Amino acid sequence: MKKILVFLLMVVPSLVLASGDSIKLEHAQIDATDLESLKRGADLFYAQCAGCHSTKYVRYERIAKDLNLSEAYVKENYMLNTEVIGSTALSSMPADLAKKWFGTPPPDMSLEARLRGNDWLYSYLIGFYEDESRPFGYNNHVFRDVGMPNVLAGLKEDLGEEKFKAAANDLTNYMAYVADPVKVEREALGIKVIIFLLILLIPAYLLKVEYWKDVH
Ligand code: HEC
Repeated sequence: MKKILVFLLMVVPSLVLASGDSIKLEHAQIDATDLESLKRGADLFYAQCAGCHSTKYVRYERIAKDLNLSEAYVKENYMLNTEVIGSTALSSMPADLAKKWFGTPPPDMSLEARLRGNDWLYSYLIGFYEDESRPFGYNNHVFRDVGMPNVLAGLKEDLGEEKFKAAANDLTNYMAYVADPVKVEREALGIKVIIFLLILLIPAYLLKVEYWKDVH
């Protein structure tokens, strides 16, 4: 009886939560080592998104270093409202006006990929569809009645479906990087730590044998 109760307590909430999630998400190809893709994504982000959305936890300097871009390039293309390479990416849009225009101020994008997940983000970016009943004429498959206009509509028209999806994937890749800029470093460090521990195992084992040899 107790086991059944425990089972019910564990399984029922997960079923209830899962049932709300009926939208099928498209899969994003994420590769934090693909610098070309990250640069294309960053180019898009600062051309299309940064006017409204800040990424206040990432510094331009860090983007330049991680993506192997010159500071001159970053200044010219990404820094919309500051001259200081060490500053973070803030949006120039006043929050109160943004709220008036869109109903909700555009949220900060620094941790968005972690908050929603990469697949959700990618599906959102390619998920806008025409809907006359909405103020800007568009709705979104994964975010019902979203307040954001379909800012990528022009790009989709220019590029065509296939290339547009690739561009949205680059953008997702960039936003995944922004949400976890030390991923590549951390994974490389993780391998070194494991090798170190394996080597440490040898003297530790020999020491154990030495300590225990007289005990029996
Ligand atoms: C004209 C201003 C504007 C631009 C440009 C813009 N957004 Fe938005 N965005 C918004 C607003 C406003 C919201 C909040 C919508 C809501 O909550 O209904 C939003 C919401 C979002 C969300 C969902 C946030 C959440 O609740 O999790 C994502 C993701 C997003 N934007 C990504 C982008 C990306 C990527 C770009 C560039 C391609 C972009 N936005 C360009 C205004 C903008």
